[in-house]
Amino acid sequence: MNLSDKYANEKIIKSKKRIQNHGEVFTPKRIVNNMLDLPNIREACENLTSTFLEPAAGEGIFLVEILRRKLALVKKSYGDDLLRYENYSLLVLSTLYGVELLEDNAQKCVMNMYQVYYEAYQQQAIKNGRKVKNKVLDSAKLIISNNIVQGNFLTKLSTAGNPIVLSEWKPLNFHKGVKTIRIQRTEYTLLDILGGIKKEGGEPLTYLKESEQLDLFDFLDDKEIAKKERKQMKYIAVKVTDVYREEMEEVDE
Ligand SMILES: C[S@@+](CC[C@H](N)C(=O)[O-])C[C@H]1O[C@@H](n2cnc3c(N)ncnc32)[C@H](O)[C@@H]1O
Repeated sequence: MNLSDKYANEKIIKSKKRIQNHGEVFTPKRIVNNMLDLPNIREACENLTSTFLEPAAGEGIFLVEILRRKLALVKKSYGDDLLRYENYSLLVLSTLYGVELLEDNAQKCVMNMYQVYYEAYQQQAIKNGRKVKNKVLDSAKLIISNNIVQGNFLTKLSTAGNPIVLSEWKPLNFHKGVKTIRIQRTEYTLLDILGGIKKEGGEPLTYLKESEQLDLFDFLDDKEIAKKERKQMKYIAVKVTDVYREEMEEVDE
């Protein structure tokens, strides 16, 4: 019996070439669940704020299952209170990170995470006789697209050759039962994270506003002057349901 017969209902290999080139064999769901049921890991899956980083995320089978488990807990505690469900479900979503080398897998991982989030949220909205809110879905999309990154975990570089950057979404007022969770977003490179570097919440990053990027006449300026003129920005603390706005403010020098 070969692997594909054994897990006939699950597509765990796509092609021999992809196995040879990228070691791509997906983990069957039963094994994922057995692994997540191991002591300590099971407890981490039951902790709303514990973070997970999958260095070779594939299509996200581990991350999706962890998301399901965490959302089930949120539903258990806040299923009758849609506002709290929205806040806590976005909080748990923000704890799950993945890096994946191949574009198609990374995209599928993003889609799988969103689908699980959306379906669970929709179910809760219907149960509460309400509609899903765009700002919640937009915040979910923003979080997932920043937390699931296409890149090479070994070189720590994105496909474009830039350092892989992940965002910390730190809850500022997290205690049991709080209704509206406020979040401080801070960006770290993967190297920062692995090196245990700690930044102050919202520590300024050199960040270019869209409108300031790539001025076509930049080449006429002295590069150093141009650099100094760029404004330093930082993310401001916002409600977790508003993270989609990516609001920033100028940093006083
Ligand atoms: C063995 S599969 C496992 C996927 C998933 N974790 C699972 O259990 O189903 C390995 C995955 O790692 C990805 N990969 C290989 N080298 C990588 C690297 N240097 N950085 C990030 N991902 C990588 C492959 O594209 C593939 O999707």
